[in-house]
Amino acid sequence: MATTEMIDLAIEVSKKAYVPYSHFPIGAVLLTKDGKIFTGVNVENASFGLTNCGERTAIFKAVSEGYQSFSELVVYGETEEPVSPCGACRQVMTEFMAPDALITLVAKDKSTKVMTLEELLPYSFRDLD
Ligand code: THU
Repeated sequence: MATTEMIDLAIEVSKKAYVPYSHFPIGAVLLTKDGKIFTGVNVENASFGLTNCGERTAIFKAVSEGYQSFSELVVYGETEEPVSPCGACRQVMTEFMAPDALITLVAKDKSTKVMTLEELLPYSFRDLD
């Protein structure tokens, strides 16, 4: 289960989001199976479609450092209800996390909703076999 330290880190890192267009910062904290933490924020672009979400930033940072197996993810957004990850991020999570991996979604008042990846993206496409 996500610790309060992970939730506080997600809030802290969201301040580094590059969001001049949406003004909607996201902070993500990813825990690898061997206990290492990676953070990510959303990085927007004047060509809007090039925006990278916070969740994918954290995952891509970790993969590029040699980590491919993650047990937990915390996602913070300045939302009334716990923030809901986009479909693209759910599919990318599916590549590197097990169906029972826990995703903790955090709202601006720090209320949380804990879901498994299977609940976030049921009947997902996992590989070509
Ligand atoms: N965003 C994320 O970073 N994660 C999500 O799961 C949903 C959306 C970002 C993308 C864009 O920078 C802003 O939030 C508004 O869509």
